[in-house]
Amino acid sequence: MIEACGVHRTFGGVSVLRGVDLAVRAGELVTLSGPSGSGKTALLSLLCGFDLPDRGSVLPGPASWSACAVLPQSLGLASELTLEENVALPLRLAGREVAGVTELLAELGIGHLAARFPAQVSFGQQQRAALARAVIARPAALLADEPTAHLDAVSAVAAVGLLRRAADEGAAVLIATHHDAVHEAADRVLVLADGQVS
Ligand SMILES: Nc1ncnc2c1ncn2[C@@H]1O[C@H](COP(=O)(O)OP(=O)(O)OP(=O)(O)O)[C@@H](O)[C@H]1O
Ligand SMILES: [Mg+2]
Repeated sequence: MIEACGVHRTFGGVSVLRGVDLAVRAGELVTLSGPSGSGKTALLSLLCGFDLPDRGSVLPGPASWSACAVLPQSLGLASELTLEENVALPLRLAGREVAGVTELLAELGIGHLAARFPAQVSFGQQQRAALARAVIARPAALLADEPTAHLDAVSAVAAVGLLRRAADEGAAVLIATHHDAVHEAADRVLVLADGQVS
């Protein structure tokens, strides 16, 4: 479950989020649209615990952050790990068996790049590795910020398919995106404008 209740956030006197309410249930894929600068990334940062609201509450909270996967707009791949090692990381950190990494990379068309480091592949290829890392451990909640921003049409279809599958397997999935192809795969589309979600 992903939830925001009455969330407010101000940056340097500018009120960016002004009473945001939203809820994404398990098994649901919801997209969040809104103009550049409307506060989508700020909202996702609050939902995943990277930032704290000035007022209001969010889920997942600290008790369930470990079950939440995040695909940040900046990706956040570990530069000293190969793509394969980056994708395996959530499983290793959870003490689980490392399985499915090769298949996932192949599904996203980057199987041949598994042994490369992030700096040795394109940004779109890094983006696909970051997506694989976000879904590999089957998180209960998944927050993805512009997951198809740097992808061509074919790669975007594969990426959207993966996110849809995560929801179909039971995850609550919230995606900030400008892309119609992602909105078309959603159960609901939310719009962030003037500091509120509708
Ligand atoms: N840490 C911060 N300090 C100051 N201002 C911030 C901070 N984070 C966000 N902002 C401001 O809040 C507003 C919303 O930014 P945000 O990155 O959430 O927009 P966005 O909807 O994700 O845009 P985009 O579609 O371009 O990714 C912007 O005006 C931004 O300058
Ligand atoms: Mg953003």
